Amino acid sequence: MNDIGSKVRSLMKEMEPVFIEDFKYLHQHPEKSFEEFETTAFIKKRLTSLGITIMDHGMKTGVVGLLKGATDGPCIALRADIDGLPVEEMSSCSFPSQNKGYMHACGHDTHASSLLAAARILAACKEDLQGSVKFLFQPAEEVNFGAKEMMKHKVLENPKVDALFGLHNSPEIPIGTIAVKNGPLMAAVNRINITITGSGGHGGVPQRNIDPIVCAASIILSTQTIVSRNLSPFAPCVVSICNVRAGEGTTNNVTPNEVTMYGTVRAFQTEDIDLIEKRLGSIIQYTCEAFGCKGNLEFIRELDVTGSKELYDIALKAVKETGAQPVDPTPSTGGEDFSVYQKGNVPCFFYWLGTRNEKQDCVYSWHSPKFKADPHCIMIGGGVYTMSVFKAIEKFKAEN
Ligand code: NI
Repeated sequence: MNDIGSKVRSLMKEMEPVFIEDFKYLHQHPEKSFEEFETTAFIKKRLTSLGITIMDHGMKTGVVGLLKGATDGPCIALRADIDGLPVEEMSSCSFPSQNKGYMHACGHDTHASSLLAAARILAACKEDLQGSVKFLFQPAEEVNFGAKEMMKHKVLENPKVDALFGLHNSPEIPIGTIAVKNGPLMAAVNRINITITGSGGHGGVPQRNIDPIVCAASIILSTQTIVSRNLSPFAPCVVSICNVRAGEGTTNNVTPNEVTMYGTVRAFQTEDIDLIEKRLGSIIQYTCEAFGCKGNLEFIRELDVTGSKELYDIALKAVKETGAQPVDPTPSTGGEDFSVYQKGNVPCFFYWLGTRNEKQDCVYSWHSPKFKADPHCIMIGGGVYTMSVFKAIEKFKAEN
């Protein structure tokens, strides 16, 4: 166990060309959420060839693999998401997507190949492993349902998982760095659906109608005061209305009956989310009353905050041991369904894997058609997953 760090570091280097081959395949074959059939088959084949047992949890896509070490001991799980996005690739990558209209625009291919890299390293270090490792290749992160599906199929049981680590690439931090945050890293995600009902009619005779569009416009502006006037300037929160629908086609002279609006609310504290929900409700209710409309708000709490203080010390040690540079990042108001696992009783930790490399054009944000990750991140991601396992087992063994 003593020199496991240097053994892992040399395997990372030695195996890097194979890691890149896995990454190339995954990058070229992005698939839709919950339809990751080829990706699932590819991962199963790779894990099987490494002597890793495929566990059948009855899921349509996604893979759970189990590697038993030399002795019994704690079971550490590692999670990567595997789905692509309906984005047409426009990046400068030399091995672009072969599935037209789909792309790994959020870099989940870097996660899946980092986890495959960890599987390769850990399989080679089986004799040093005093416990077991569960590999969770999760479908459908992009639609916020994949982790829920995994939990429904009880992937953290049989054997019971003692700790879980996950990661997401980040084009905001340079290649060679890993974000290790002692606390919340990504925001809670809430969906808002708003309906404003008036009474439509001739657009040229407004006095006969109750116009839901003017009412909706007033609501849109007022909602912006929640962040600027009701919440502390030190509480990072977002209220965005991103979709407004009213009227038919290009019609310009009919006041519609109804306006629907969809939006997103992001925050890090439950009390802030409660306050936003309450203020949104009041703004909609009283603005509608003033305009003679009827309003309805659906506030759906989709995901909790990702990131915690649990396992921070282990995570920091794991990163240092791989030779990567740990950085303390600014949290993101993006969301992650890794938070679903955090709600269970298993301690969890979530990293960001630096992928930014200006020389290679790896600078574009998640979901951009130009998104590109420096493939060198796979080796680092694989190393960090691997050392998280060894450091966690070491800690649990010392505690027992
Ligand atoms: Ni993502």
